[in-house]
Amino acid sequence: MVPRSVRITGWGHYAPERVLTNADLEKLVDTSDEWIRSRTGIRERRVAAHHETTATLAAIAGKRAIAVAGLDPQEIDLILVGTLTPDYWMPSTAALVKEAIGNTRAAAFDVMAACSGFVFAYATADAYIRSGMYRHVLVIGAELLTRFLDFSDRNTCILFGDGAGAVVVSASDEEGGGLAGMEMTTDPDGAYMIWLPSGGSKSPPSAETVRRGEHFVRMEGKETYRYATKTLATSALAAISRAGWDPSEVDLFIPHQANIRIIESVAKGLDLPMDKMFVNVDRYGNTSAASVGIALAEAVDFGRVKVGDKIVFVAFGAGFTSGAAAVEWTADPAHGRRAESVQPVASVRAPVDWDSVDPMPARLTAVLEDRQGPQVPLDDVVPGEPEHAPREVPA
Ligand code: ACO
Repeated sequence: MVPRSVRITGWGHYAPERVLTNADLEKLVDTSDEWIRSRTGIRERRVAAHHETTATLAAIAGKRAIAVAGLDPQEIDLILVGTLTPDYWMPSTAALVKEAIGNTRAAAFDVMAACSGFVFAYATADAYIRSGMYRHVLVIGAELLTRFLDFSDRNTCILFGDGAGAVVVSASDEEGGGLAGMEMTTDPDGAYMIWLPSGGSKSPPSAETVRRGEHFVRMEGKETYRYATKTLATSALAAISRAGWDPSEVDLFIPHQANIRIIESVAKGLDLPMDKMFVNVDRYGNTSAASVGIALAEAVDFGRVKVGDKIVFVAFGAGFTSGAAAVEWTADPAHGRRAESVQPVASVRAPVDWDSVDPMPARLTAVLEDRQGPQVPLDDVVPGEPEHAPREVPA
């Protein structure tokens, strides 16, 4: 049945506990807290623990969003995960999330649009529900970028962090509200401005690709910056105009959290005060596809959004891609408290007869352990034994 409207009914986020500060990065590359804060606005970012993966981060955020929506996980018809850092090339991260949240009936697939992944997945969810095919879709943006960074490259390793943000998008029998205007663009002129060269069919993994450092994110910062400032403003304007709104009517912008200077320049371009821009890049850095989802969940939980508000999500990313959504908010922000009972743990099916290597970059482990003392995965602690079997700290 075709619904009267399509609305966001649940939201949630999860950020790993461990914090990587600018001072930590000073020990790894030739940089400074002052440079990072003044050029990007980032003070710290989160780093997933050894046992965490993109799917576990996604599942926790997803479970929180489902609790806020007041649904049982089995009521979810479709699971979409926007990510550029999946657990595996196959199966999809969405397939792993499906089992981890306790759902046996949903279809599940990943959406690959880099940092625009959450906004693209949200648009996909809206279209499926609008067509009458599904009633409840779980949309997650989740990223574990610290596993794909070269911690000797100061141009990239200071920018990114880990986390997940999610919404439940639902069919409604009430008129109005929800997605009012949408814009999505893809510009292959920027295809190699942010990229991860090897591991795909063009350049499969080999000892040589590893030796050449081709499994890490590479970026032309200046070109990306130029594209971002232009496209965020034009995409937001296109979505706002499709909604029939004027930019001055928008109550809150929830932009991709890549760089505070990019966000400031978008505010200036749209002639808006900075207090209409939600900002948390200082605490999380750039979490790519997770960024808008985390920012939305925090904005609602921090009391920045109320029923009837006009809000705009806007993102850009590798591809180049950009996406913007003009949304009239309909859910009671107090429902956010329902997520408090969801513990920050998720269990994802492990492969049979296969142990992965330690997933943490050695340089990152060394700096974190140097600051916080040895961290021993729970699995390594045998009852009755001394709690800390010292681990080898890589040089
Ligand atoms: N610490 C200290 N110095 C640095 C660092 C660092 N971490 N990084 C670069 N520098 C140096 C450069 O080497 C350069 O030195 P030089 O003048 O001697 O050559 C100087 O600082 C200035 O470098 P710029 O590149 O001009 O610095 P800029 O002000 O442009 O800031 C930044 C760089 C922060 C990367 C910026 O260009 C940016 O934010 N770009 C957009 C990045 C982005 O948003 N990427 C994510 C896209 S989303 C996705 O899909 C993954």
